[in-house]
Amino acid sequence: MSFSRTLALATITTGALAQLKSCSNNGTVSCHSSSKAPTCCYNYPGGALLQTQFWDTDPTTGPSDSWTIHGLWPDNCDGTYQSSCDSSRAYTNISDILTAQDRTDLLSYMQTYWVNDDGSNEEFWEHEWSKHAELLHQLLPQEEVGDFFQKVVDLFKGLDTYKALSAAGITPDDSKTYELSDIQAALSKLHGGSKPYVGCEDGALSQMYYFFNVAGNAIDGQYQPTAPLESSNCPSSGVKYLPKNK
Ligand SMILES: *[C@@H]1O[C@H](CO)[C@@H](O)[C@H](O)[C@H]1NC(C)=O
Ligand SMILES: *[C@@H]1O[C@H](CO)[C@@H](O)[C@H](O)[C@H]1NC(C)=O
Repeated sequence: MSFSRTLALATITTGALAQLKSCSNNGTVSCHSSSKAPTCCYNYPGGALLQTQFWDTDPTTGPSDSWTIHGLWPDNCDGTYQSSCDSSRAYTNISDILTAQDRTDLLSYMQTYWVNDDGSNEEFWEHEWSKHAELLHQLLPQEEVGDFFQKVVDLFKGLDTYKALSAAGITPDDSKTYELSDIQAALSKLHGGSKPYVGCEDGALSQMYYFFNVAGNAIDGQYQPTAPLESSNCPSSGVKYLPKNK
């Protein structure tokens, strides 16, 4: 462990993470309690967390055999959401913060799998942090930036959309189309029986949102897969899945 990481941990232990650790999961699940008081172990009002992914073909981003990360978004349990609540935490140095926390493996993973189709990756991460992550009330300044990005990457690694679709014979192909229900069934297996929101652009797969409720906090709480709060905008049949290797 490097000096900077030790230092970062020391800061965390006396600050943000100390509070996080003291927050035990008492069984209260987000979106399932009438409590309107956000705490470090209960997300309110953004109790539904969506791990969102892209399949970008125009322009192409990321590896040709993987979806890419969009973010982790709090939703008010009903399809509405708040955004960009705290401009004092709208950092413009996400890469520097991760580097200072000695999270270089995380950073290099993000350079491959969390990529911008329209500008620098750093800009995209700043946008995702300031628009969505600040809304997670138990996340406290700076030290938590690393925990947030690591958590999103960990969730993404457990939701390998490409692999799950492939296993069901659903692969990118210019000359084939698929049934929406087959796509949803293949991905439900990956997501505890709950289908994700399947997003299309011009009838072709483009986005996937996996919905969760959480018992405990967003970093080390228990994520429970749940049904989507939005209906798919894809056609029910004839769904295209275009290859990235254009
Ligand atoms: C569990 O924690 C939440 C959030 O702090 C609180 O609102 C709730 O009353 C607690 N429930 C019990 C049974 O202690
Ligand atoms: C990142 O930016 C914040 C606020 O702008 C600053 O306080 C902090 O020192 C910077 N961190 C690093 C590691 O550069």
